[in-house]
Amino acid sequence: MIIGLRNQEPGTHLQNSTPRGPPDLMSNQALGTSTKTSSSPAPMSLVDSFSAALAHREAKSARRRLTVLPRTAVDFSSNDFLSLSTSSAYRERFLALLNNTPPSFPFASGGSRLLDGNSAYAEDLEKFVANFHQAPTALLFNSGYDANVGVLSCVPQPGDVILYDELIHASAHEGMRLSRAGPRKMFAHSSPAGLRKVLVAQMSEDPKIANGSRNVFVVIESIYSMDGDVAPIKEFIAVVDELLPHGNGYFYVDEAHSTGVFGPKGAGVVQELGVQERMFIRVHTFGKALASHGGMSISQGLENELMADLNIAMVLCGPETREYLINYARSLIYTTALGFPFLASIRATYELLQMGETVSLQRRLQQLISHLRQQLAALRTYESVMFEVDHFPTSPIISLRTSQPRQLASVCQAKGFVVRAIMPPTIPEGKERVRVCLHSGNTEAEIDGLAQTIQSWLDQSSRQASKL
Ligand SMILES: Cc1ncc(COP(=O)(O)O)c(C=O)c1O
Repeated sequence: MIIGLRNQEPGTHLQNSTPRGPPDLMSNQALGTSTKTSSSPAPMSLVDSFSAALAHREAKSARRRLTVLPRTAVDFSSNDFLSLSTSSAYRERFLALLNNTPPSFPFASGGSRLLDGNSAYAEDLEKFVANFHQAPTALLFNSGYDANVGVLSCVPQPGDVILYDELIHASAHEGMRLSRAGPRKMFAHSSPAGLRKVLVAQMSEDPKIANGSRNVFVVIESIYSMDGDVAPIKEFIAVVDELLPHGNGYFYVDEAHSTGVFGPKGAGVVQELGVQERMFIRVHTFGKALASHGGMSISQGLENELMADLNIAMVLCGPETREYLINYARSLIYTTALGFPFLASIRATYELLQMGETVSLQRRLQQLISHLRQQLAALRTYESVMFEVDHFPTSPIISLRTSQPRQLASVCQAKGFVVRAIMPPTIPEGKERVRVCLHSGNTEAEIDGLAQTIQSWLDQSSRQASKL
């Protein structure tokens, strides 16, 4: 069993999130059902090809299913890290905001932000959130998914270079796929050396990068959703500052999993490190620790003085980036804006963050993380049963790596602990695991129960292995 810092060696896989459709082998031709000759069998119908694609996933134990788990089960799975969704403080504040509106106050937004869907309330919320995150401007999107798709699809300009961590989220892949950027190159997960290697390679191909006339976007997450590790953001900045002294390196950081959990009053990893002025765009989402829905893209205004001197567009990029997104981000323009109840729920949570009300929940979460680490470190393991704990010390997301994640997950679920087996294509082949998420509302007794269940499964699996 391994407990400790995540191995940051380069990986070899594209993250699950790379867009994938049904495999080619499901095509009519590959299945020998081509319609080219009259004697050929009838072509496969669309619905039959869906069934074949699903059967293919089933055969690889990779078929996804919707599940509803009993409410009485202990949550070791959701992203409700601060347990805010069941917090009475949050609920009371949220309901008060709803109830304090006049009866005629519209709860629906009524249209796109650009038509009837905007409101003074939404604009004020953006200012409140921008202020909390020490950023000049913020722009609301209907979800983190929409924010990543909308921003990444339009911000990198034709010919610009995008360098992305191999484990970035599916929504960032979607945005990059739609973008007019030039090369999009992956670098090894959370590896500053990997970023350097890819950037140097791009610089040798395109002299415009070195002379500062070609933009380079570095796309990362601050905490990775499946692996739960925290990105070495300062080390990435050092690489970019050294190689791109003209200030044409732009960081795009998705803080979906760190919002509420890390940083001062839950402001995120970037603010914990004090590097907010070096991030061109930060994305915070509200559907995880913030118990709400939606996402916000926060663009920085003034960069550090060096960058401001060297690249005048950066000086203006806060408000200008926002205006640009309002004009070009299609996932913002062509969708109905969030209605008042969503805005109010985001407001309620951010007020709690601002007042420091969630700091004790952050602290409690860290206590529980230490407790689970101790319990996992004390587990009796066996050579015959593959089992590794993969964990970044302060992260609420823990991976139990095993070759039998479905079995382990179902044993835990049978005991009333909700954990999920995570299988390819959500993660790369060979990285199967049970994902455990901790929440401020979990208890030590629940954690002990989970650890005992894992121990029983390990004992039982080893007995079975010895009989083979
Ligand atoms: C890293 C990351 N970014 C973005 C998203 C999408 O955010 P949302 O659920 O608000 O669409 C998720 C998860 O859903 C995520 O894990």
